[in-house]
Amino acid sequence: MKDGQEIVIGLHRFEVYLAAQEIEKRIEALAETINAEYAGKKLLFLSILNGSFMFTADLLKKISLPCEVSFVKVSSYSGTDSSGAIKELIGLDREIVGYDVVIVEDIVDTGRTMDSICKSLKDKQAASLSICTLLDKPERREVEVQVKYIGFSIPDRFVVGYGLDLDGFGRNLPDIYQLKHTEHA
Ligand code: IMP
Repeated sequence: MKDGQEIVIGLHRFEVYLAAQEIEKRIEALAETINAEYAGKKLLFLSILNGSFMFTADLLKKISLPCEVSFVKVSSYSGTDSSGAIKELIGLDREIVGYDVVIVEDIVDTGRTMDSICKSLKDKQAASLSICTLLDKPERREVEVQVKYIGFSIPDRFVVGYGLDLDGFGRNLPDIYQLKHTEHA
């Protein structure tokens, strides 16, 4: 934990919550589990952009099995609130018939994004469909989703860094920060 380190995005002040080393260690453990469970399978990682680009890159570097990766792009958040509506901005551009698909997500919050993506893949005849998320906010769930792999289960706080953003900012930060204070203009 990097104590006392803060960043400011607009009117929002954030403090370090998960340091890069902690994230790296947890991703290594997740990759080890996936390596053990998907040996001999036709493995496809489906990365959900934008938020999971950094997680996907670091996770996949630790996967020692033959695998493929593909990307879809969706958006639902505006500021620190989910808009509720999931917009598909770039769709799936390939077949997934017979593949064991692992969806790679940055954070499962209300569950709406994962529910919508799982529903859109249901008829595509994948051998299996699982979700791997770096962060999970179980208290915020509105739609039930089965999440197979969770990096960190976190309380209901807005976070940025390591791919996660606030209105486009913060994605480049190597640590994950939690919202500490918002100034009222
Ligand atoms: P859900 O559909 O409500 O589960 O939200 C999933 C998406 O909302 C994630 O992929 C993120 O892009 C975004 N999101 C949810 N919580 C946060 C947060 O704390 N910080 C930044 N983005 C978030």
